[in-house]
Amino acid sequence: MGNKITNKMETLKRTKIADIFNPALLNTTVCVKGWVRTRRGNKHVNFIALNDGSTIKNIQVVVDLANFDEEILKPITTGASLCVVGKLVESMGKGQTAEIQAEKIEIYGKADPELYPLQKKGHSLEFLREIAHLRPRTNTFGAVLRIRHHMAYAIHKYFNDHGFFYMHTPLITASDCEGAGAMFQVTTLDINDVPRNEEGKVDYTQDFFGKQTSLTVSGQLEGELGATALGAIYTFGPTFRAENSNTPRHLAEFWMIEPEVAFNDITDNMDLAEDFLKYCINYALENCMDDLNFLSEMYDKELIERLRFVVDNEFVRLPYTEGIKILEASGEKFEFPIYWGADLQSEHERYLVEKHFKKPVILTDYPKDIKAFYMKLNDDNKTVRAMDVLFPRIGEIIGGSEREDNLDKLQARIIEMNIPDKDMWWYLDTRRFGTVPHAGFGLGFERLLLFVTGMTNIRDVIPFPRTPKTAEF
Ligand code: 4AD
Ligand code: MG
Repeated sequence: MGNKITNKMETLKRTKIADIFNPALLNTTVCVKGWVRTRRGNKHVNFIALNDGSTIKNIQVVVDLANFDEEILKPITTGASLCVVGKLVESMGKGQTAEIQAEKIEIYGKADPELYPLQKKGHSLEFLREIAHLRPRTNTFGAVLRIRHHMAYAIHKYFNDHGFFYMHTPLITASDCEGAGAMFQVTTLDINDVPRNEEGKVDYTQDFFGKQTSLTVSGQLEGELGATALGAIYTFGPTFRAENSNTPRHLAEFWMIEPEVAFNDITDNMDLAEDFLKYCINYALENCMDDLNFLSEMYDKELIERLRFVVDNEFVRLPYTEGIKILEASGEKFEFPIYWGADLQSEHERYLVEKHFKKPVILTDYPKDIKAFYMKLNDDNKTVRAMDVLFPRIGEIIGGSEREDNLDKLQARIIEMNIPDKDMWWYLDTRRFGTVPHAGFGLGFERLLLFVTGMTNIRDVIPFPRTPKTAEF
């Protein structure tokens, strides 16, 4: 038989491994392409586990050494890339339904076992972060990245099916939506020789945009312009925060989903947030079970049960003031002190969710001093119509509010909070002309992925994380 390793494979259409387990393909000749996960065997037969990223599953390639020269098989080591042609047959082996009896093998690229870092043994997630350029080839990151894709699709589908328009808000901005001041500057000025004005301050009139600009922390303000014209919009894009928080829940570059709806009040906003989150989680349960099962087995045995629990149960809705009372009465030793007016830390949020209610909680009506300028003031003049959705293991997953739609009150807040109001004229025009009640929220995409995948560090649910002192890859 001429079944040699060859560089010239006849043109047989490639089948993705995700599609190979289709019984209709049994006993036909197929062509698969992918990367070697493992090769093992004896003098008579070798087994190659091949993966092409389309599924967590490998296809087993059976190589009869009577047909292949062992020397030629030598470069087929973990990480090498192959094209295999052969007959798909039922498998007698455990854990797979079909395997390929190799007839032809072409090696696209070798992966020197001395150098290729992803050998068979399990690697720590910390180590894999150092080789984030290769970690998509592991089972774990294959699973996470496929789930990430499916969640992005589910989000677009949800909003499209509910009559929302996808609005692209700018990434470069001259306004600070959250007022937290943690923005990355964007400039083309020579930072070694910045032009200065008479007062000795940087002369931004000479900068690219003629004013000081930054990367956006949120698309909300422009999203409100869209909602007060199209009725219901959502954004889905990268946002940037230069806060120096090295935690398992913060990234300097993360993706945010921000729906904004005209005529919605805070209750509508909570209803939307709850329905939307349940839809996304249910979508994962319906479309990502292979990957979820893998992650559950590897990292978190309760993962799937937790996802089902959130889909099946109503979220608790509770004013901040009531939440503080529960925390004060808890007798728990918190690292950060708790009192009315305190910004909640993740330990407080998780106490309410995991220990007290044992359910997701939507906390509302926070003190105005710890929230952004645009939130609608309550009649008590002390609290605003804010709503944070708090999740088990995550803490805050969503932050949102009903917006202040009254021009005078909004202007008063802008002055109170020292926001340069000359930059806000366009935003205030929504309240000047045809103002309407409206509400919206922001979902941190990676926080949702933390919850859905069961991973514990946000650096492990985005392909190439950006955090303080790390911008590799
Ligand atoms: O609560 P935040 O700051 O709210 C806003 O930005 C509003 N403009 C949203 C709106 O009402 N349209 O951020 C929203 C969400 C948080 O709940 C959290 O899930 C996520 O964004 N988030 C982060 N995720 C990863 N890394 C960070 N540094 C994050 N900061 C916020
Ligand atoms: Mg927030």
